[in-house]
Amino acid sequence: MKSDEVLLKMEGICKSFGEVRALENVHFTLSHHEIVGLVGGNGAGKSTLIKILAGVFPPDRGKIYLEGKEVHFKSPRDAYEQGIYTVHQKMEEILAPHHDVAANIFMGEEITKPFFGGLLRVLARREMEKEAESVLSRVGITIDSVRRPIVSYSGGQRQAVALAKALRKKPKILVLDEPTAALGVKEKFQVLHLIKRLGKEEGIPIIIVSHNLEEVFEIVDRIVVLRNGQMVGECSPSLATKEQVVQMIVGGE
Ligand SMILES: Nc1ncnc2c1ncn2[C@@H]1O[C@H](COP(=O)(O)OP(=O)(O)O)[C@@H](O)[C@H]1O
Ligand SMILES: [Mg+2]
Repeated sequence: MKSDEVLLKMEGICKSFGEVRALENVHFTLSHHEIVGLVGGNGAGKSTLIKILAGVFPPDRGKIYLEGKEVHFKSPRDAYEQGIYTVHQKMEEILAPHHDVAANIFMGEEITKPFFGGLLRVLARREMEKEAESVLSRVGITIDSVRRPIVSYSGGQRQAVALAKALRKKPKILVLDEPTAALGVKEKFQVLHLIKRLGKEEGIPIIIVSHNLEEVFEIVDRIVVLRNGQMVGECSPSLATKEQVVQMIVGGE
């Protein structure tokens, strides 16, 4: 195998919570410029796999390779710094709800400027607001003020802020856990469009967890199916039908 073609390789991943075997010997790969849909029923292990990749907790067993090199993520921050940008199912895990939009986009990566002739450094608020506005206009979802706290915006707008942050960061991998689950029809459509743009136009490799096969079929290059903590199959949305994927998700003949 040409290792330079595989961006991410997760090999033999196992994870248990007490008696519950959430993941059993899972192999997962992602290539450059690829959008992969991770699907499966409730409790299949999707979020657990994502959390391991995001550095929330380590696997009990198994290895992770990024660009051919073995990596260990000690914390979510560590995974983020190594290029994995994750938007978890619960939005509050990524955004600070009471901080404003600009502060959220720059959280942990604030721009500073010298003060007192360089004796101190202070936050360059204006610069951050300007750049936040510019990156938001690139994602194409209207946010009327980057100075308003995240809580004052709708689910779709919050999702857009999280994705704008991703666009600015240009991560090696963008990981989205059920990004449209909490959204209304119109917002769902906008966010999907945005995800597609990040993948196809910006070339950011994406893993998207979703239970909505309509949207998975619309945006991904490859579908990976988990059932009871095991990877039970994969297929291309252009070759398989939704019925076939449903069969893989629920099991049986
Ligand atoms: N922190 C946890 N503590 C105990 N059990 C957990 C924990 N996280 C997940 N599980 C269990 O692991 C299994 C897989 O869960 P999860 O990865 O959240 O599935 P999915 O995202 O596919 O719905 C489920 O049986 C779930 O109850
Ligand atoms: Mg989940």
